[in-house]
Amino acid sequence: MGSKEKWWVDLPWGDRRWLLKLARLDDRDGTVSGEDWAEWVVHHLSALIGVPTAAIRPAMLAERRGIVSESVLHDQLEYLDHGNSVLSARFPDYDQSVQGENPGYTPAAVRDALDNVAAPDEIDWPADFRAFDVWAGYLVMDAWVSGRDRHHENWATVLRGEELRLAPSFDHGNALGFQERDERRQRMLGDEAHLMRWLERGTSRHFVGQPGLVELANEALELASPTARDYWRSRLDSLDIADVQSVVDVPPTTIMSPVTRTFVVKMLETNRRRLLNGY
Ligand SMILES: Nc1ncnc2c1ncn2[C@@H]1O[C@H](COP(=O)(O)OP(=O)(O)OP(=O)(O)O)[C@@H](O)[C@H]1O
Ligand SMILES: [Mg+2]
Repeated sequence: MGSKEKWWVDLPWGDRRWLLKLARLDDRDGTVSGEDWAEWVVHHLSALIGVPTAAIRPAMLAERRGIVSESVLHDQLEYLDHGNSVLSARFPDYDQSVQGENPGYTPAAVRDALDNVAAPDEIDWPADFRAFDVWAGYLVMDAWVSGRDRHHENWATVLRGEELRLAPSFDHGNALGFQERDERRQRMLGDEAHLMRWLERGTSRHFVGQPGLVELANEALELASPTARDYWRSRLDSLDIADVQSVVDVPPTTIMSPVTRTFVVKMLETNRRRLLNGY
């Protein structure tokens, strides 16, 4: 599944398998695209707002850069059931194979399909939190990090016997403007209107109407419980920029240049303002 080169591997940390994913090479000039640092950074940012995500470590395979993503399955008794299958179990007409915009893919449909599903068990949630309350948080995170890849195979439920819960979020390499060039990042840093236009072009290619990411997150929050709505907005609101900076400062400068870092922090702050606007 998915489009990158990848393999499940055993590593000496813990009992779970890890998915080794190689960063793609940029068609334009053969440079390594930044989806490896993006996936690592998003994993650590997600912890700051309390979104459970698969653990990520940087990796190399024969000089190729990549990451390893720890399986979200606890053990061999568990299975992943992806969003497309969850949706088609609830809506028999749901088209599971669509790659781009899917006429059946809306936050409201996901809410109905997750009706009997519990929240991920990695985190102690407020009482009565259900899977959709957490899933709405995944869309809030996507909007915060300009992650555009929340298609119906990039989230899943975990089946364990009769139990069903939402899986932690995974696959976050397509975020944070990982494909941009530093020249453009530099220009956007000096031109707020240019940065705004660029951020607003961040839409979902998969949900009906290809909505903007902030709009989509707000739609999901409106459908979530009032507790969840308050929970995610106040998590974002109380974020400390120093914590964001200390995540972004970790990757080596050979992988994430100073301009890239500054740009990422600026885009995160701008998206946070866009999300909290009116709250
Ligand atoms: N941490 C994880 N635990 C369990 N399964 C995972 C994990 N990460 C990925 N997978 C599985 O592997 C599939 C492909 O992985 P992933 O989505 O990360 O790769 P991709 O090639 O980037 O996909 P895409 O084409 O969506 O960009 C996922 O749809 C999921 O089934
Ligand atoms: Mg994927």
